[in-house]
Amino acid sequence: MRALLLSLTLVGWGLAESFITKDEYAQMLYQNPRGIGCHKCHGVDGKGLELGRYRDGNRTIVIKAPDITGLSFERFKGAIRSNKNRLMPSYFLTDKEIKTLYYYLTHGQKEKR
Ligand code: HEC
Repeated sequence: MRALLLSLTLVGWGLAESFITKDEYAQMLYQNPRGIGCHKCHGVDGKGLELGRYRDGNRTIVIKAPDITGLSFERFKGAIRSNKNRLMPSYFLTDKEIKTLYYYLTHGQKEKR
């Protein structure tokens, strides 16, 4: 009985997984990567956003999150794994998750939200 229940649960998971496409999974990860969503700073399309600005004497300092749609995979991965970012938080993502995010930003977005 227990074995039956277990296999039913596993089948259930298998089915649930097939209901979401690779593109949907990639978007989900971009917006909820176990931490603050990338889109909050880099924008829904990854093209970057202005996070704020302030006056320093008579200069205006603009704080921005950069466009991350045109980077090499090495640079992309290096930045996510780096602990030397000044503003960006550290993430603990697997290689596969980083690849999915890279896929999302380079060709996964069919509809912009
Ligand atoms: C709190 C705002 C914030 C969040 C959230 C954030 N970033 Fe960033 N990101 C930045 C800023 C600002 C920089 C520029 C480096 C710095 O000052 O930290 C940056 C830099 C980067 C770079 C390097 C860009 C380059 O030109 O080398 C990549 C890649 C990147 N972010 C990807 C991501 C991904 C993927 C996520 C989600 C897992 C994410 N970021 C979440 C603010 C953010």
